Amino acid sequence: LLSSVLVNQADAGLANGSKFLGNIIAGSVPPSYGTYWNQVTPENSTKWESVEGSRNNMNWSQADTAYNYARSNGFPFKFHTLVWGAQEPGWVKGLSAADQKAEVTQWIKAAGQRYPNAAFVDVVNEPLHQKPSYRNAIGGDGSTGWDWVIWSFQQARQAFPNAKLHINDYGIINDPSLADQYVNIINQLKSRGLIDGIGIQCHHFSMDNVSVNTMNTVLNKLSATGLPIYVSELDITGDDNTQLARYKEKFPVLWQNPSVKGVTLWGYIQGQTWKDGTHLLNSNGTERPALQWLRQYLKR
Ligand code: XIL
Repeated sequence: LLSSVLVNQADAGLANGSKFLGNIIAGSVPPSYGTYWNQVTPENSTKWESVEGSRNNMNWSQADTAYNYARSNGFPFKFHTLVWGAQEPGWVKGLSAADQKAEVTQWIKAAGQRYPNAAFVDVVNEPLHQKPSYRNAIGGDGSTGWDWVIWSFQQARQAFPNAKLHINDYGIINDPSLADQYVNIINQLKSRGLIDGIGIQCHHFSMDNVSVNTMNTVLNKLSATGLPIYVSELDITGDDNTQLARYKEKFPVLWQNPSVKGVTLWGYIQGQTWKDGTHLLNSNGTERPALQWLRQYLKR
């Protein structure tokens, strides 16, 4: 299952509307579902656990499917994700610190060798929430408070010299004080030339009830870093009318912000979403009102 994406005009040289967006679930969705997307983020297949569930035995076949789909359609591909405290392989936890460091170093290198043309990489996922079991092995908090994050971006820069490196976290759009903590990490990375973009996930639990005012407060804090912002995992719940009203009120706040360079929807087909109620396409192929509105709004 791939997650999908809408990318706006400043992203990766795609002019807004210049491409009719390609459906991103290659082969598994009837053409009648239509075409919506112009960037690909694999939902699970480029996570460490998915690739190296057993030690020293990396299986890239699902990830390759997503990557090849993106490449053959000319869509930017985002590698999601290198360093994260969830969906890390179970075997990592029990290793010595030296072995943990060697393994994660090797994982990052292997990812870069496999996908040298990835446009974007989520280097560290959810640093404010889900710290990896091997965090101390790769520098711990250290004098910056975020040495392990800095180390991760240094490795990623070497492994993916051509990609835009992103950080990615949730619960930011609805929480100005968490946004301040996020900005602190981001500025540590920025002063070292290690980061190119800010991911804010924007899942339903942050989005459904957030006010426009709070969203703008947070976006202002993030854009003050000077870095582009990417809404990386948007989903919104509600019955048809509620979901529509929420998209109408909140999507433009994201999309029209000059610092927001792209929006990725996280799951959109009924029965195949991460959380029930967030889908935009019904399983019978009809579009929910929020998607009809979204296409009109985006002229797609
Ligand atoms: C989720 C996937 O959508 C699920 O299929 C999987 O079971 C768990 O992970 N933050 C992230 C995503 O960065 O990778 C997560 O994706 C959702 C929360």
